[in-house]
Amino acid sequence: MSMYILGIESSCDDTSAAVITDGGLLLSNVIASQKVHEEFGGVVPELASRAHQQNIVPVVDTALRRAGIDRRQLSAIAFTRGPGLLGSLLVGTSFAKGLSLGLRVPLVDVNHLHGHVLSHFVKRQPDDRVPEFPFLCLLISGGNSQLIFVRNYNDMEVLGATIDDAAGEAFDKCAKVMGLPYPGGPHIDRLATEGNPKAFAFAKPRIPGLNYSFSGLKTSFLYTLRDALKTDPDFITKNQADLAASLQATIIDILLGKLKKAVEQTGVKTVAIGGGVSANSGVRKAVADFCAARGLEAFIPERAFTTDNAAMVAMAGYFKYLDKDFCRYDEVPFARVEV
Ligand code: KG4
Repeated sequence: MSMYILGIESSCDDTSAAVITDGGLLLSNVIASQKVHEEFGGVVPELASRAHQQNIVPVVDTALRRAGIDRRQLSAIAFTRGPGLLGSLLVGTSFAKGLSLGLRVPLVDVNHLHGHVLSHFVKRQPDDRVPEFPFLCLLISGGNSQLIFVRNYNDMEVLGATIDDAAGEAFDKCAKVMGLPYPGGPHIDRLATEGNPKAFAFAKPRIPGLNYSFSGLKTSFLYTLRDALKTDPDFITKNQADLAASLQATIIDILLGKLKKAVEQTGVKTVAIGGGVSANSGVRKAVADFCAARGLEAFIPERAFTTDNAAMVAMAGYFKYLDKDFCRYDEVPFARVEV
């Protein structure tokens, strides 16, 4: 009999449900993004929770319909337990508990960060390639920048993490200074394609080990603009593309510097990237080029799996289900969890 795992993701501002079957084959992945936050320049937690409440039933229904299965065929319900916004997580958690109890199938809790790492095991076709263990995953998003050593589906170690801002925050905060809409990352990416990455030089951190830091770059970017605007009020408009390209190049340089170090330290043969910032075209190319030059295998996620999605939650839930690693009904969501 086939196995069907429903994944539910509600950690931030995307309500998503997905169904995965045997071997990690994806049957459906439905995402409802919330437009309500745009006018506020960032996610408003209270509004996010309410929108999840409105979206979750139709999103799950659609995921089951697209998968071509009835809910009574489900083998388990997997949900994101954290990290994320507590109110948002509570919606997905409560819904998953209710459905699991109603259908009398196991409940499986998923660490959102594990989900990003394991998204590389989601298959569109049965013979899609997947990473071999051990591998390194550079997880870069709006809330995290981590280098993770992945020994197995359920055995991961954080080798380095940001000590201040995440890579996505560096993109978004600098974009905000340039007057670009939130989230600024995709705007910087688009503008950077037309600019000169060497036009401006910004500060790079000098911290030992494998940890990241992006707050110095943010300050250096801010001061460059502040000083230039004193003599030329149109400085940003005139230099938009060059500023974006130089900022992006600096962030990539910082990310790749530690990635190289981690590859040397661990001796891995495979490198993967994940999280919202892994959608960045410059990051994708830099990691692909780095791996090609060193004979490493690169796993660059398809763009649909870079942002929050339930396919990765169903995938992580699938592996925990195989291990019979189920969640108790009195477990609660976490705003913060380690990998
Ligand atoms: O993983 P994610 O969807 O959720 C959070 O952790 O919040 O990541 C969102 C982050 C934002 O900072 C956004 O600006 C960034 O990912 N991002 C990008 C691109 N697409 C999304 N950053 C740079 N280039 C992109 N193309």
